[in-house]
Amino acid sequence: MSARGRVSSLLPDFPWDTISSAKARAAEHPGGIVDLSVGTPVDPVDPLIRAALSSVAEIPGYPTTHGTSELRTAAVEAMKRRFGITGVGPAAVLPVIGTKELIAGLPRMLGLGAADLVVIPEVAYPTYEVGALLSGTRILRADGVTRLGPEAPALIYVNSPSNPTGKVLGVEHLRKVVEFARERGAIVASDECYLGLAWEGRAVSILDPEVCDGDHTGLLAIHSLSKTSNLASYRAGYVTGDPDLVAELLEVRKHSGMMLPFPIQAAMTAALADDEHEARQRERYRVRREVLRKALVEAGFRIDHSEAGLYLWCTRGEPCRVTLDRLAERGILAAPGEFYGPLGAEHVRIALTATDERIAAAAARLAE
Ligand SMILES: Cc1ncc(COP(=O)(O)O)c(C=O)c1O
Repeated sequence: MSARGRVSSLLPDFPWDTISSAKARAAEHPGGIVDLSVGTPVDPVDPLIRAALSSVAEIPGYPTTHGTSELRTAAVEAMKRRFGITGVGPAAVLPVIGTKELIAGLPRMLGLGAADLVVIPEVAYPTYEVGALLSGTRILRADGVTRLGPEAPALIYVNSPSNPTGKVLGVEHLRKVVEFARERGAIVASDECYLGLAWEGRAVSILDPEVCDGDHTGLLAIHSLSKTSNLASYRAGYVTGDPDLVAELLEVRKHSGMMLPFPIQAAMTAALADDEHEARQRERYRVRREVLRKALVEAGFRIDHSEAGLYLWCTRGEPCRVTLDRLAERGILAAPGEFYGPLGAEHVRIALTATDERIAAAAARLAE
């Protein structure tokens, strides 16, 4: 390596490597492991989406970074139908190669550096921090704007419904974030990956007219199709909101070759145009959530938040690694809460992303 050092040294240890012994222990269970650690979909991609993917498989040319107009229009229509988001024009939709890459690169693509502050939730999806570390910004964990004192952040992340806690931020909370950001000149990046998976109550977008009064200035909403359409393997998401910010991201991404493969654009267009496969998937997760929720409570866990999203955020009031080991002895693998920030130290995150058979096995083992 050159004298300039390794970029990876800026980053924390890859957290998933640290649960390999719990994983090995869980795999020794005679009934096999029930892996509820990663939120990776297990149900097949809908035939309608697969057909759209293969229908364009013979097309050889480069795709555009901005994506097809069909894709962008389908995203606009889906946001309107599914979430009541209005006022987005197709030009303000930018496809991304899964939202993780966008989040990891966002501070850099927005030109942020050492003088800038990025605010992330107290307990957060780790990639917000990774993106900030890669661009050398300061980082502050805060759930409310009052915690920020006189700071003028450059970028504020919100994630409602949250990974890992499943907490939903209400209209009033989001309005305060938008108002604060506008006063201080911050961009708000709202990661809305789980917006379509609200179990109790309503989850709203940062672009909801009730939140932003129809003014998208300084706001970015990040939408992924990984969870709601089972497209994690395809890598399909988009960012939308402030037309000027989206245009700037497009410009940078055009130069960088960050284009979504054309067959994936076609698949995504079909997925965004169809709500039925999404409703079927949501129902699968609703049933799994009920089974796991009941089994965890009966086994003495307390479940916090978790009113939306793909996880149950639970605790037994002990260090998360102790809970992780107890679960591993029963052949169940969870994610330790400390992956998501110091405030997660006594929680584990249990994903709903396993087959009905594996979820039933987990419930039976928790009852033993
Ligand atoms: C909060 C949150 N944001 C973004 C992502 C990334 O999703 P993808 O890159 O599959 O779009 C995830 C994945 O688990 C997530 O939980």
